[in-house]
Amino acid sequence: MSKRINYFQTIHKAIRRLLFLLSIDLGAVDMSDLDEVKVLYERFEHLKAYLESHAHHEENHIHALIKAKLPELYAVTEREHQEQEGELDKLAKSFKDLLAINNSEQRIAAGYTLYLQFNQFVSSYCTHLWAEEGQIMPGLWQTCTDEELLKHFLSLMASFTQEEYFDSLDKFWPAINKQEKTAMVALPSGLKT
Ligand SMILES: [Fe+2]
Repeated sequence: MSKRINYFQTIHKAIRRLLFLLSIDLGAVDMSDLDEVKVLYERFEHLKAYLESHAHHEENHIHALIKAKLPELYAVTEREHQEQEGELDKLAKSFKDLLAINNSEQRIAAGYTLYLQFNQFVSSYCTHLWAEEGQIMPGLWQTCTDEELLKHFLSLMASFTQEEYFDSLDKFWPAINKQEKTAMVALPSGLKT
């Protein structure tokens, strides 16, 4: 049997990569250097916008199917999306507060607090990703036909602008393996294996 549609596999790998890279860099950044902190803040804002866009794509194109087929899991995932929005707004405020601190010693101390806050978010966000991959997707495979899965996948893909799609490809590529890359592109014929 050919592989069934998985709504989450590629995008969630890309999201985990971005979350972990920012977590690592927040741990290593010299908080006394305001310019370096600003660079991480800009990366956070870009990631925040990407996570919000990803959540809206799921809500607009996948959640109706989850609600119809897996109502209990739907209620949980819908609530978690709302909580994530609040957590991301709180993180943005913490970043802005950090940038407003002029005293280096105080910024270093507040920077560690932000580091912990961000990693708490990463932890709960990754639990959410797992629930979608490890509970919702298998539940949809059990309850949906391939045609139903494809219909919602095509609706999702049709909602992307070209710019959004290319931006996503940039994020997917370093996060996925050779087999997943091969599935995404038509390789030229005659390549040596
Ligand atoms: Fe989600």
